[in-house]
Amino acid sequence: MVVLIMLTNFLIVLALGIAGPQDLRTSGPQDSKSPGPRVVRITAERFAYTPSEIVVEKGTVIEFHLTSDDTDHGFRIVGTTVNAEIPKRRRGETVVTYTADIEGEFVIECSRPCGAGHTAMRARLVVK
Ligand code: CUA
Repeated sequence: MVVLIMLTNFLIVLALGIAGPQDLRTSGPQDSKSPGPRVVRITAERFAYTPSEIVVEKGTVIEFHLTSDDTDHGFRIVGTTVNAEIPKRRRGETVVTYTADIEGEFVIECSRPCGAGHTAMRARLVVK
């Protein structure tokens, strides 16, 4: 009896194992092109982002990993809904996913008051 249950479980696992990859193959819209999101790590520090320019191809799913080297900063991609807070140093990272489906140059600006250079704290996202 136990053997029969184990055999049944084995067959279910086997069936799921076979079905799994097929499901993945048919569900991705651009499966041949993009294996996953592009991870972009950005550090914020008064009053700049490093790197300060990010260039991607249109359609790229970007996974921004944002950290601060000093105080709280913001991360707004002007013209999109992206507006995140970057916690101060050692308080972890903020992960923001953005699909770059609009071509052009986007201003990234700090959206949290962080000091004298706050309004000049900028970066650039280029989608081409
Ligand atoms: Cu950084 Cu405001």
